[in-house]
Amino acid sequence: MNKLWGGRFDAPTHALMEALGESVSFDARLAPWDIRASMAHARMLGKCGIIDEEDAQAIVNGLESLLEAVHAETVQWSPALEDVHANIEAMLVERIGKAGKKLHTARSRNDQIATDMRLWARDQVDAILALLKRLQQAIIAFAEAHLDTALPGYTHLQPAQPVLFAHHCLAYFEMFDRDKQRFVELRRRINVLPLGAAALAGTPHPIDREMVARELGFDGISRNSMDTVADRDYLIEFCAAASLVMMHLSRWSEEIILWNSPAFGFIEMGDAFATGSSIMPQKKNPDAAELVRGKTARVYGDLAALLTLMKGLPLTYNRDLQEDKEPAFHASDTVQLCLAVFAEMLDAVKVNGKRMEQALAQGFMAATDLADYLVGKGVPFREAHHIVGEIVRHCVANNTTLEALPVETLRQFCPEIGEDVSVALALETLLARRNQPGGTAPERVREALATARERVSEQD
Ligand code: ARG
Repeated sequence: MNKLWGGRFDAPTHALMEALGESVSFDARLAPWDIRASMAHARMLGKCGIIDEEDAQAIVNGLESLLEAVHAETVQWSPALEDVHANIEAMLVERIGKAGKKLHTARSRNDQIATDMRLWARDQVDAILALLKRLQQAIIAFAEAHLDTALPGYTHLQPAQPVLFAHHCLAYFEMFDRDKQRFVELRRRINVLPLGAAALAGTPHPIDREMVARELGFDGISRNSMDTVADRDYLIEFCAAASLVMMHLSRWSEEIILWNSPAFGFIEMGDAFATGSSIMPQKKNPDAAELVRGKTARVYGDLAALLTLMKGLPLTYNRDLQEDKEPAFHASDTVQLCLAVFAEMLDAVKVNGKRMEQALAQGFMAATDLADYLVGKGVPFREAHHIVGEIVRHCVANNTTLEALPVETLRQFCPEIGEDVSVALALETLLARRNQPGGTAPERVREALATARERVSEQD
């Protein structure tokens, strides 16, 4: 087998070394980006007179036909050639002969892989941004369809105050919006051309890096050749941003699992995203949400793997860097799958407003507002808080609710309480009063929805 670097060696590579060193089994997926980058490099070499224009053209044509073969999945990847770069170069030479051997002029696999990974990462970011947008649209539709539904808001997983279901959903809209911002900012840092750094020190050939950058859609060229081939910050940032998306999905998954449990009964998962039990015929398990929650752990693992991979590496390229691929690929694949699943899963969720109403009736949701009501009657808040605490204790002991207590009973705790208390404690009042920006009043939530719709449509 003709290794790229065979000249210096007497003895063949050990089979175990080949097994350890090959990356083509997982980096073959970089072929489309590798080929595009090589086309730009070859055109530049021709334009700058570093190789003949005819050779450059032959390389570009050869790479084009190779790209078709890659898409058609008719190429044979050879692990003995190590990686995607060596495989493609070998196949190119096989197709076009001697000219193919000139492609690697003024280039190293070190700046080549850095370029491939940045091109790959840029496309992943764009795909993730589109999926985040789609999920946000699903959230808006979901919230809009249930604008009249309220449920208990929780702190400590204890019923706290009533909120609109749409308000709860829009909280996640905000999380995914921050995720989008993170990916947009990361895209700028990704979009810098490494080619030209060569192995580590730059190249003496009269290359034109700006030309390659333009052709590949990069915003500019990297500044320091050593940093260029050693840098994987952008992959770490990618996995960190992906981890945050997964964390958001996982938190909502947890709520969906709870809500879908008969103990809550707030929602029912669509059949298409649930599974049954092999032994218990009554079961309909929220597996989609559980798997998203579970896969979050492995994306965090990808981030931890990359941070650990990088921490002790001296400048510049070290072969350890080959191990950056699988975590980055896995994080990207997983976050994209989970985002797509989540949007579809939401579309298929049935909301049970009745059960939410029942939970609202049980949760002493109006306690804070009763205290506020007393404040309105001139009772100092600290005293009001204490009085309402006693009323709640009375309700618990007598298995009743605040709303069900006759005014006469309430007046035994505080004579300032009047007939107007029932209006003050009505669910509609509780919701409507939380009317400051960011609050759950129906008027505010409608506004928030309208703004959310605009914010999503601004994204191209
Ligand atoms: N497959 C290698 C990687 O992913 C490409 C760069 C190889 N460079 C080298 N000097 N062996 O990192």
